[in-house]
Amino acid sequence: MKTWAEGLAALGLTILLGVALWAFSGRPLGAGATDSTSPVSFDSEAAARGEALAAATGCLACHNIDDTSGTGPGWGGMAGSDVTLASGETVVADDAYLFNSIIDPASQVVAGFDAVMPTTYADSLSEAEINDLVEYIKSLG
Ligand code: HEC
Repeated sequence: MKTWAEGLAALGLTILLGVALWAFSGRPLGAGATDSTSPVSFDSEAAARGEALAAATGCLACHNIDDTSGTGPGWGGMAGSDVTLASGETVVADDAYLFNSIIDPASQVVAGFDAVMPTTYADSLSEAEINDLVEYIKSLG
């Protein structure tokens, strides 16, 4: 019965390896679509769509994805930070603020910047696309 036992052991090992491979390939189980390694949690699939959209829409002509300023403020580290507005008011860059900054940029102008951001995105982008852009900005820290 030695061969039978060996065969069974081999089969058991194969199943174990298969399960291990299945468990470790692909996304970690239970991680869902959110990335918990970033201090700001975001939807990684939406962020990937937002990244492509930011490039295609021309946002990156004015915004850097690190924390350096271009024509507009850098996006790196912006989400969740305190933003000082030209009005002197300080606001937290939460989802609602980021969303509003895209659809109505002139309503809350960041201190030290000119209000030159196009005000056309509310018309040219869908709500889902704007949400994707917000998720992308959040993915940058
Ligand atoms: C022509 C240059 C320009 C383009 C293109 C542009 N922005 Fe801006 N953006 C600015 C400037 C300048 C500011 C700061 C003044 C203000 O708040 O309006 C700003 C502010 C912002 C803010 C708030 C920043 C903060 O620090 O609080 C967000 C968010 C933002 N832009 C997102 C976008 C997105 C998304 C796009 C593309 C769909 C885009 N911008 C395209 C120039 C631009």
